Amino acid sequence: MKIGIIGAGGIGQLYARLWSARGHDVMLSSRNPDKIIDAAAAVGAKTGTAATAAAFGDVVVLAVNYWTVDQAIDAITPHVEGKLIIDTTNPLQYNANGGVERVIAEDELAAAIMTAKLPAARIAKAFTTLWTGHVEKHSDVDAPTTAMPYAVDDDVDRQTIAGLIGDAGLVPVDLGTLAQSRLLDPPSPIWNVVLSADELRARASKSARRNG
Ligand SMILES: NC(=O)c1ccc[n+]([C@@H]2O[C@H](COP(=O)([O-])OP(=O)(O)OC[C@H]3O[C@@H](n4cnc5c(N)ncnc54)[C@H](OP(=O)(O)O)[C@@H]3O)[C@@H](O)[C@H]2O)c1
Repeated sequence: MKIGIIGAGGIGQLYARLWSARGHDVMLSSRNPDKIIDAAAAVGAKTGTAATAAAFGDVVVLAVNYWTVDQAIDAITPHVEGKLIIDTTNPLQYNANGGVERVIAEDELAAAIMTAKLPAARIAKAFTTLWTGHVEKHSDVDAPTTAMPYAVDDDVDRQTIAGLIGDAGLVPVDLGTLAQSRLLDPPSPIWNVVLSADELRARASKSARRNG
């Protein structure tokens, strides 16, 4: 599959490496593509601008920081009509103490905000919950044990994402539609915890019971 990744940081490079190793054709992007040539080559990816990567991908993976997301969206919008966009972003920013804080309201869903920003594309949320270091350590394509949850509305897209999660050496766990994606946004009981699929589903069920 051709995968265009918007961003070439921790998330972009990690999944580019994992997916390239499974035979996918990956393009990483940056606002300065010349600066990522070596890093992209090291993970088996091509390089381009955000627009080039969006045009290249059958699937587009959004992996930029939330404070640059609107700039990235402006660049990719002409190239993503009818495409699946896997949104890995978390609605976070750094605060004055060096910590991170949520930048969307408590009752807002990051998926709904992203859907409104990219109405011509099909949005999915995945890869938001696990720190790259955990994925590096626990990814195992032959005997995956670590769960990666996702949410998406379309059933064909559901299979595509589950396949890409498996190709990253993780176990896909379907949390339902985008309207049910609350647990994929921080803070949440499944956020940045290494869990098996059963453990993740148990936490999701408990959270659903608590919230009625
Ligand atoms: N790191 C994690 O463990 C982790 C885990 C789950 C989810 N996430 C989420 O994933 C997203 C990416 O995180 P990250 O850690 O990979 O960030 P990062 O290491 O800071 O990398 C962000 C990348 O985005 C690129 N970028 C920024 N604006 C761009 C634009 N308009 N067009 C193209 N590229 C652009 C940057 O490159 P240039 O500056 O060269 O353009 C950089 O390569 C964030 O929303 C984060 O919350 C991160």
